[in-house]
Amino acid sequence: MGCCHHYFAATEGGEDVFSVDVSSIAYGPGALREAGEQAKALGIKRIALFTDKRLAALEHVAIVKNALAEAGIDVAYYDEVRVEPTDDSFKAATTFAEEAKVDGFISVGGGSVIDTAKAASLYATYPAEFLAYVNAPVGEGRPVPGRLKPHIACPTTSGTGSECTGIAVFDLLAMKAKTGIASRYLRPTLALIDPLTTHTLPANVVACSAFDVLSHALESYTAMPFTRRTRSRTPAERPMSQGANPWSDLGCREALRLAGKYMVRAVTDAADHEAREGLMWASTLAGIAFGNSGVHVPHGMAYAVAGLVRDYRPEGYPDEEPIIPHGMSVIVNAPSVFRNTAAACPDRHIEGAECLGADIRGAGEPDAGEVVGARIIELMKPTGIPNGIGGVGYGAADIDALIEGTLPQQRLLKNAPMEIGAEHLHRMFEGALSYW
Ligand SMILES: [Fe+2]
Repeated sequence: MGCCHHYFAATEGGEDVFSVDVSSIAYGPGALREAGEQAKALGIKRIALFTDKRLAALEHVAIVKNALAEAGIDVAYYDEVRVEPTDDSFKAATTFAEEAKVDGFISVGGGSVIDTAKAASLYATYPAEFLAYVNAPVGEGRPVPGRLKPHIACPTTSGTGSECTGIAVFDLLAMKAKTGIASRYLRPTLALIDPLTTHTLPANVVACSAFDVLSHALESYTAMPFTRRTRSRTPAERPMSQGANPWSDLGCREALRLAGKYMVRAVTDAADHEAREGLMWASTLAGIAFGNSGVHVPHGMAYAVAGLVRDYRPEGYPDEEPIIPHGMSVIVNAPSVFRNTAAACPDRHIEGAECLGADIRGAGEPDAGEVVGARIIELMKPTGIPNGIGGVGYGAADIDALIEGTLPQQRLLKNAPMEIGAEHLHRMFEGALSYW
């Protein structure tokens, strides 16, 4: 079977149009010092500054606070963000946002912080029952009614790409499952990206973030082409997860190239600033790309892998409770998933592997899954990533529960290049138990 990504060959009933929605971006070393002037330019007079307790002690937050003070902007400060947020922590942040009486938001942190600011801004502006805006079928999937207040997102890890996407992810405690809210109105107004923030990150945080980037790019690149999605009746109904398209392909290819080149260097040598900063740019590119195409099965499975965690505690993360960091929960599935999806679009899988630095000489279509899977595993080993889902505490007996936790992630599963049902997920989880 040949590759399915011939965008401009029309599909009966399929979509003809793709759209590109992008945050404004200010990128470069020292960018955080622009926070005050950037906020002023957005007309903000009083701003809610979101961060978490650990980051609050680091210089990035101090730099932003100083910049805001110098620009004469009043700050309402919130450092109660939870790493891996929950519905409860989103609600607490919303209460703060309602009482703070601000006209804008600034988030300084990883995906957890940025996502929490998005949710707090949403519920403070358009109050509703919590599940109203949450993705169906877990929530109602009600459309966000309109624009939110300006939000400046300042990432301090090179991974989630949340500063460029309209997605906020959290754990729904009652279901022990990760889910999210997705709307283009959640996309930050400005992504203020300072690669200097990567210099002080613990090695394991760099590894997990970098694999999140890698998987964003490879999932977007191999996603169902937008032309195969049923045509949206109106532009407003066109989903952000619209499928692979010529725009997202551009960012994916370069993000994969940078991830393949810098991943091991950035993790194993904290002084290798070129590598760490290169991953920040890769994260930005992948964020812009998947924010306009969507990810698929490795992320869908990751929600279950992270949500059902029992006692895994990684280095470099707060250790009060067990946690499987997002990027780790994604990448432990990825080689097995791509080995299974390769048959749907082998060319794309081989190209992805080539961008990642694999030697693809002599590789034909039947080798596509193996080529890309082997290259990811080759990067996992020297960067301290656990050996598959077995390495983070799961065994064959857990597969049914993991499938049950993945099936509700229809927004992601439907974006795969092939149809995904319980039997496919079974094969994919089984193949992810261990790799070496
Ligand atoms: Fe991700």
